[in-house]
Amino acid sequence: MRLAGRRCHSISSRRRAGQALNAAKIPSQNPTGPLSNLPIVDLRFRRFPAITCDLRMKIPFVDLKAQYLTIQKEMDEAIKTILAETAFIMGPRKEAFENDFARYCNARFCIGVGSGTDALYLAMKALGIGPGDEVITVSNTFIATVEAISTTGATPRFVDVEPQGQLMDPALFEAAITPKTKAVVPVHLFGQMCDMDRILAIAKKHHLIVLEDAAQAHAAEYQGKRSPLCGTAAFSFYPGKNLGAYGDAGAVVTQDEKIYEYIVRFHNHGCPKGGKYEHLSIGFGYRLDTLQAAILQVKLRHLDKWTGQRRAHAAHYTSRLKDVVTTPHEFPNRRHVYHLYPIRTQQRAELAKHLQAAGVSTGIHYPIPVHLQPCYEFLGVKRGQLPVTEQCADTMLSLPMFGELTESQVDYVCDQVLAFFKK
Ligand SMILES: Cc1ncc(COP(=O)(O)O)c(C=O)c1O
Repeated sequence: MRLAGRRCHSISSRRRAGQALNAAKIPSQNPTGPLSNLPIVDLRFRRFPAITCDLRMKIPFVDLKAQYLTIQKEMDEAIKTILAETAFIMGPRKEAFENDFARYCNARFCIGVGSGTDALYLAMKALGIGPGDEVITVSNTFIATVEAISTTGATPRFVDVEPQGQLMDPALFEAAITPKTKAVVPVHLFGQMCDMDRILAIAKKHHLIVLEDAAQAHAAEYQGKRSPLCGTAAFSFYPGKNLGAYGDAGAVVTQDEKIYEYIVRFHNHGCPKGGKYEHLSIGFGYRLDTLQAAILQVKLRHLDKWTGQRRAHAAHYTSRLKDVVTTPHEFPNRRHVYHLYPIRTQQRAELAKHLQAAGVSTGIHYPIPVHLQPCYEFLGVKRGQLPVTEQCADTMLSLPMFGELTESQVDYVCDQVLAFFKK
């Protein structure tokens, strides 16, 4: 689809030309003046030459408005209901979403909280992680995974990822266990779950707690099962996520009643379920807004359809790009939900520039791995110690990915990528 460079009149240039035309038609105060002597058509084209306008496709990285427009009626109704009820904190609407999401994950319990970061932190607190403990995770993640560990007072320990899926390498996880290791946090990055059989077996052998960071993995499956495979998982509903709120939001999903009860209290100032001014323990304010819960409840009904669309776009990208770049790898028996579609190339910067010029927005997830961030320098992990993670940071480029992408948009992105490598 090569529309670039075609000539047309923009609406405003046409309007301006039309105004000039009308001005020319109005009898002049001085009918012998210069305007009245000119043929109208000439006047228009002399004064307003054709303007070259840009008909290249503009493809955003994510288009939340396009998604909203597909569900506008039911979404507006849900929001209006909350506004009419003016019940913005806690209450049955929050619980209704929690029940729906727990059911969706095949989990016993769900607690809606303020963000995915809150969910990770609260789950770690509930699991008893704290000062003196070491928690093994990956550096190839969004920083919140690691911040949550630090905020409990524990020390994060990084292991590298395997090169195919860029997920925690189970062998390196086992090698990193020390007597201080209390827990492991596998991150189901980009929408694909880690090798949970091996991670759970190693954790069991060494008596370690497992908490899944499922912030990017709503609807992802491992051997037909969704998180939490280990018992407890943290989800983010950040707006751009596969299930995204219209603001910050997150949830802890768990099979464990004790974890549930701890978080029910802690996320709401130590109050028992349904309570208000009775504080059984010291907690804090980590509640999910009821408005966000209502928004998420509407969106959850569409998640399977959106996941199918993402998977179709990913298959389309992969079929056309696999010979020129490294495309995401989908392991057998895992259902990748393509929160992101990162390709790998040594020419990342040049390709990104080429795509930008062609109207295609891209992203980098993540340009600086957590162990090389200034705030984690104190851990003493040097460049070169996590080579696969560092290579990901240097070579990955995420292409546009959202359900409402059209086939022709995906084709246009592929055309542009292929054109870049033909040069
Ligand atoms: C892997 C991962 N963990 C944790 C988080 C934190 O979630 P939130 O932004 O909702 O706090 C995110 C969000 O981007 C994430 O991608």
